[in-house]
Formats: sequence, structure tokens, C-alpha cells
Amino acid sequence: MKRTNIYDCSIIEIDKHHNEKGNISVVENGKTIPFRVKRVYYLYDVPGGESRGGGHAHKKLHQLIVAASGSFDVTVDDGELKRTFTINRPYRGVLIVPGIWRELDNFSSGSVCLVLASTEYSDDDYIRDYKQFKEYKNNLSNKRGGKPETLK
Ligand code: TYD
Repeated sequence: MKRTNIYDCSIIEIDKHHNEKGNISVVENGKTIPFRVKRVYYLYDVPGGESRGGGHAHKKLHQLIVAASGSFDVTVDDGELKRTFTINRPYRGVLIVPGIWRELDNFSSGSVCLVLASTEYSDDDYIRDYKQFKEYKNNLSNKRGGKPETLK
């Protein structure tokens, strides 16, 4: 498994069709985003200014996080570097690759966080403890370029 970093996460512009009746934004598998969507979920009724508390990482999941309404911050962290995206447009999303710790906070009141995800829900795919996340990342680096197993 590749050791991902925060620069693998990026803002994706979603198609926007504008007319006087309002706007439509469309996400299509294989076109807008580099994974196939298997699950959609959304966070809402998050109290204004709040955070989703703590954050977590995934081992395999790819996701696109969109502020379908309102705004919030998405902080991505690869164990070494952090980067915060403030998203506040329904036609812009943050692409998050596996192996990234992510936190959501500063929700504006009434905001809706739409998440397009590459797999079905699996508790086993989560890393919820930051210390375990760091260990997970370190193990990946050791496997990649490090010393042969026998020399460790
Ligand atoms: P979780 O992803 O842990 O959210 P956060 O880290 O922001 O608190 O999800 C919270 C709860 O919702 C968790 O107990 C499991 C449930 N859940 C599902 O059942 N299916 C899903 O697709 C998601 C995202 C969560």
C-alpha cells in the first residue's frame, strides 16, 4: 500500500449547470472523481461552530467531501503535515485518499456535509486513535523503502 500524503488530497471542481431556476451540480463515476461511489452519507444539524470531534482515518476508503450547504473546514493530516481546506461552495469538494487523518470543524449553522465514498461502511476500515494512525503510517514507510525485515 502506498504511503499517501496530504498533497494526494485536493480540491475538485464539480460540474455546475446554471440557469435562472437555480443550479445543478453533477458527480459521475469515473468522470468527476477518480473512484466509483458505493455509498453516500451526509452530516447535518451540526451545531454552528462545532467540530465532529477527534477525527479518524481510513485504510482503504476514498472520499469526496462537499459542503452541499453552508461551510466548514476539512483538515487533512498525513502524520507529518497538516492542511486545512475551508469549503463553502456546493460545486467544490475535497478529495481524500486512504491513509489520511481527517477532521471536520467550524461548521456554519445549517450546513450540510455531503460525503461520497468508495466503499460500503466498514468499521474495520477505520483508525480512530491518532497514536495508532501514526504507527500505521510508520509501518507503511518501513515496508516501502526501509531496511529488510531481518535487519530491523
Ligand atoms: P463516524 O464515521 O464514526 O463519524 P464521526 O467520526 O464523524 O463521529 O460515524 C458515526 C456513527 O454513524 C458510527 O457509529 C457508525 C455510523 N455510520 C454508519 O452506520 N454508516 C456510515 O456509512 C457512517 C459514515 C456512519
